[in-house]
Amino acid sequence: MMNTLFSRSSVGLQGELRVPGDKSISHRSVMLGSLAEGVTEVSGFLEADDALATMTAFTDMGVKIDRLGPGHLRIQGVGLHGLKAPKNDLYVGNSGTSMRLLAGILAGQSFNSVLTGDNSLTKRPMRRVLDPLTEMGARVTSSETGTAPLKIHGGSPLRGIDYKMPMGSAQVKSCLLLAGLYASGTTQVTEPAVTRDHTEQMLRGFGYQVKTEENVVSLSGGGQLTARSIDVPSDISSAAFFIVAACITPNSDITLQHVGINPTRTGVIDILLKMGANIRLFNERLVGGEKVADIQVKTSQLTGISVPENLVALAIDEFPVIFVAAAYAQGQTIVTGAEELRVKESDRIQTMADGLQAIGVDALATADGMTIQGGRVLGGTIESFDDHRIAMSFAVAGLQSEGVIQINNCKNVSTSFPNFVELASSCGFNLQVQ
Ligand code: S3P
Repeated sequence: MMNTLFSRSSVGLQGELRVPGDKSISHRSVMLGSLAEGVTEVSGFLEADDALATMTAFTDMGVKIDRLGPGHLRIQGVGLHGLKAPKNDLYVGNSGTSMRLLAGILAGQSFNSVLTGDNSLTKRPMRRVLDPLTEMGARVTSSETGTAPLKIHGGSPLRGIDYKMPMGSAQVKSCLLLAGLYASGTTQVTEPAVTRDHTEQMLRGFGYQVKTEENVVSLSGGGQLTARSIDVPSDISSAAFFIVAACITPNSDITLQHVGINPTRTGVIDILLKMGANIRLFNERLVGGEKVADIQVKTSQLTGISVPENLVALAIDEFPVIFVAAAYAQGQTIVTGAEELRVKESDRIQTMADGLQAIGVDALATADGMTIQGGRVLGGTIESFDDHRIAMSFAVAGLQSEGVIQINNCKNVSTSFPNFVELASSCGFNLQVQ
């Protein structure tokens, strides 16, 4: 198990790489596959802690899931009403997606259940799902501070609501749509800004009618899901580390294969292009309803920008590594409207500002973002605060730093990207694990 990571400067990155499967789509493939009628085969599934936690939750509720090979699952769907009461609490580790989406599904079951997770997850806000679920008629309780463990009392009839989401969150939207499968009438969610739409896309793929009009999504309860096969594309959120890496490292030319480029996920590419990145998408194609492309990235001269707020929700998981790009860019980068970063696996505004300052970068945390003056990146020691994306972002930061960057507490890299160090080393990163 990787704990401390040392990242040193590199002379260039080369090669064709395939990063692991999309985390969001992997979670949803197990959820919908389990709730469908018939057998769903999944290929390209992300075998990392987070998505495996979702898989374990469903096997704990009686779903038979066979692993046919690496990333290849066969799920024997039990139908929307075929889950069985789990014998123990459902433990989902570090995974916010598992907890929030499962809360919606479990609210619609006839049995009681308890959802719990690790130290970080049990500090994250859950009222954002509990309040609207309660409005739908669910009986769900949390700690006094609105955190997990969540106790879900089964057997409460749900009714559809018309919910105006106060924050941009695909997890909240998805939780309510999944609960809506079990509700009477129509469940409608209005988002303040469009967020990833994998739940909607995959529900449609399983034959369920979902209506989307700009930022309003709705469905009616009482239908059924029909099994289908799913080919999970590579995760653009994992690819993002390599995209920024190739931009900031001289003599670099890499190609990332089979990356999901769903337009609700490509904010990172738009932001980097605005900064002057040398990125080319080619071989664009549709794979099981999701857009996929190969992405070539070469060494780039980046310039600081004010990131347009309409791109924030479309790049929400990529900000840690976008901040690293900003540290290597000429001039100032300003990010605003990104307060959701404060409630991720860590407070990503604070942990990134602290980490960047520790390696000599002029970074100023603000309530809803950060201001970064690009320029020299020295070396230093970073705390990842058990956050996978903080750890990997500082591994990227070390590619052109003047000194070595030591990153503590990297074991959670396995929540989304178990082979990060191998893949990064194979294309020219200079990493050491302790
Ligand atoms: C996710 C939604 C986002 C994202 C997370 C995955 C999803 O969370 O940060 O990594 O799969 O729905 P929020 O809904 O909290 O923005």
